[in-house]
Amino acid sequence: MNEIMKTCKKYKRSGIATIAKKMGLYPYFHPITSEQGPLVKMEGKEIIMLGSNNYLGMTGNNQVKSKAIRAMQEFGVGTTGSRLLNGTFALHDSLEQRLAKFLGKQDCVIFSTGMQANLGTISSLLLSIDDSVVISDELNHASIIDGITLAKLPKNRKVIFSHNDANDLKQKLKTVPKGKGIIITEGVFSMEGDVPPLDKITELAKQYDAMLYVDDAHGIGVLGPEGRGAAAKFKVTKEVDILMGTFSKSFASSGGYIAADKAVCNWVRHHARSFIFSASMPPANCATVHAVLDLIENDNSYRENLLCVADKMRKGLDDLGFEIGLSTTPIIPIIIGDEMKAFKFYKKLFNHKPKGIFTNPVRAPAVPKGRELMRTSYMATMTEDLIDDALSIFETVGKKMKFI
Ligand SMILES: Cc1ncc(COP(=O)(O)O)c(C=O)c1O
Repeated sequence: MNEIMKTCKKYKRSGIATIAKKMGLYPYFHPITSEQGPLVKMEGKEIIMLGSNNYLGMTGNNQVKSKAIRAMQEFGVGTTGSRLLNGTFALHDSLEQRLAKFLGKQDCVIFSTGMQANLGTISSLLLSIDDSVVISDELNHASIIDGITLAKLPKNRKVIFSHNDANDLKQKLKTVPKGKGIIITEGVFSMEGDVPPLDKITELAKQYDAMLYVDDAHGIGVLGPEGRGAAAKFKVTKEVDILMGTFSKSFASSGGYIAADKAVCNWVRHHARSFIFSASMPPANCATVHAVLDLIENDNSYRENLLCVADKMRKGLDDLGFEIGLSTTPIIPIIIGDEMKAFKFYKKLFNHKPKGIFTNPVRAPAVPKGRELMRTSYMATMTEDLIDDALSIFETVGKKMKFI
């Protein structure tokens, strides 16, 4: 038998997914049969949703839904082509211009997913010169790591700095030729909800003449005035060369963007393979982002509610005695340190009666081995009653599992 087929068969027989399934603990691909609000339907039951990235609660917003439906009726359901060829609609151009303005940059390029934005932008920029060097936070998202991998850099051009550690970044920058480096970090780290010291990082980028790329997938819509993101919160928008983000979280859609100088965007439009060789965002997805911008540009209450819910949950989980890391955002991890225990925790939370909780158990490679955790995340539309219910379920299950 072919070796590749043998490996697949072996994994099917005895891989971690199969072991977890046999133990009745498999937590992934669990179908939801309703809209993704603070309460969802799963297995016919009402479940408290603490695993969504629908931070502003916009997936179910009636204004947003009707604008998406209108766009679908006017422009159809798909674009059937790349932006470069037949896939640019006026909706794409207007969204790029609007986002550039919202984010305080000259220009913007929108991709069909955030993953593609990172793959295409990072690889094409690293390939722009023969001796570029990437300086990347050790906990950066898989899409950043894969963007770097696509550039096929030799080892000496890939530098990893300790997570959120400006001192280590400085030491590493000393080893990089001036004017050749790109520092990459996240605005809000996706698994633990902590925020890097962007004030210090921007200073270092300037001092060592390195470009700075911030993936703000979880910061856009959540941090800074009107939700303009982590860089806006730190007042360093100008100093960050490339702001990257996704539409799959606060914007309740699907897609991604980079916002930067016109020259950088022009380079990316003509060199990023994940942009050029993939069909563009469908009209309804673009209209959804426009509709969310219509709301958040004029109303901070969604974001304020979200931060208030997150503060209450963070305090509640901390008071109960869970280990919750250094989150200051609506992503709050519960550190477990063992993947099977994380799967068991998931099942017990989900099966709690009369209401269960949906959370995301996270294992390597999404977190370092030994740092397995339950990723919880919160929505602006979560009520006080649901916060109380959730904390009481965490207390019951946490005590049963001796986590607290
Ligand atoms: C930090 C970060 N960057 C990029 C992405 C990719 O975004 P998308 O879901 O739009 O592909 C994610 C998604 O999980 C993310 O967390």
